[in-house]
Amino acid sequence: MEKKNIQWDSIGFGYIQTEQRYVANYRDGKWDNGGLTDEANITLNECACVFQYAQTCFEGLKAYTTKDGKIVAFRPDLNAQRMVDSCNQLKMPALPVEQFIDAVKQVVKANAAYVPPYGSGATLYLRPFMMGTNSVIGVKPASEYQFRIFATPVGPYFKGGVRPLTVRISDLDRAAPHGTGHIKAGLNYAMSLYNIVDAHEQGYDENIYLDPQTRTKLEETGGANIILIKGNTLVTPKSGSILPSITRRSLLYVAKEYLGMEVEEREVYLSELDTFEECGLCGTAAVISPVGKIVDHGREICFPSGMTDMGAKTKKLYETLTGIQMGTIPAPEGWICEIM
Ligand code: PLP
Ligand code: COI
Repeated sequence: MEKKNIQWDSIGFGYIQTEQRYVANYRDGKWDNGGLTDEANITLNECACVFQYAQTCFEGLKAYTTKDGKIVAFRPDLNAQRMVDSCNQLKMPALPVEQFIDAVKQVVKANAAYVPPYGSGATLYLRPFMMGTNSVIGVKPASEYQFRIFATPVGPYFKGGVRPLTVRISDLDRAAPHGTGHIKAGLNYAMSLYNIVDAHEQGYDENIYLDPQTRTKLEETGGANIILIKGNTLVTPKSGSILPSITRRSLLYVAKEYLGMEVEEREVYLSELDTFEECGLCGTAAVISPVGKIVDHGREICFPSGMTDMGAKTKKLYETLTGIQMGTIPAPEGWICEIM
């Protein structure tokens, strides 16, 4: 199969329209079998629940070309399960896990020419999403839904590629203690848009959100969980209002089982930030993006790993995780879903 003529090593994290996407519809209390379409646009009634009350959730995962030329996806079962959790919270009908995984496979196979080659630095990003489609004017859930997955080749999430980031401690909050921070609801991202634009205007790459109740503990950023390194220990914030990142959960396992590190999932206080040697943002899009500096209202926390390279431990984690994803390091049972 011939690959598309794309400059793989220079693409960023943007939308490049690919040929086929998956669509399934929920009507009369059940999901249909779904299938592929080349229609990238969606026509809905003006009063669709997604437009009026933001009844939508999404996922993000990637497909990779491995060293031996296979195309694989990384732990799609966990994305499927997290979408079930999002749907339950938003009163949307969950798509069965098996149908989700089958849809991932269909979309990747149909767009195989867009899966970036091994070693190119790019990957195929998959965006599953679901929305309430019928008209609803009183505040209540829709009764009809559409689920889709599209694919787009992507490069690094942060402008300038993999480089140490400068992030700020945010004055605005992302998710209330008993709110929706732990699910992947579109509304969590809508409320972060003002703040991300402001952060960029002020010269920061991202916002670190604190726990809104005490504003003393780290939560996560707008699109990634946080990891910190102290000696041989990987520390990551524990909170009921952050997204349970699949990358972070995988890294905890990799740190312990592959790299012999200690791991701690616990509350992380703003006041202890200067005791860490390395910091990174982790997620499907972010992979592991190293943080060089955190700015807390004039107080600068500069990690000893510096502003030019990834810290040594972060690099080891990055290389091991991406090695597992690209087939150069043996994966734990069930992590790699071979597609073709
Ligand atoms: N946190 C937020 C708010 C996110 O949007 C994402 C991206 O999905 C993550 C964390 C990372 O999660 P994952 O590793 O499952 O992609
Ligand atoms: C992902 O990492 O897949 C996400 O959904 C994060 C988003 C900010 C791009």
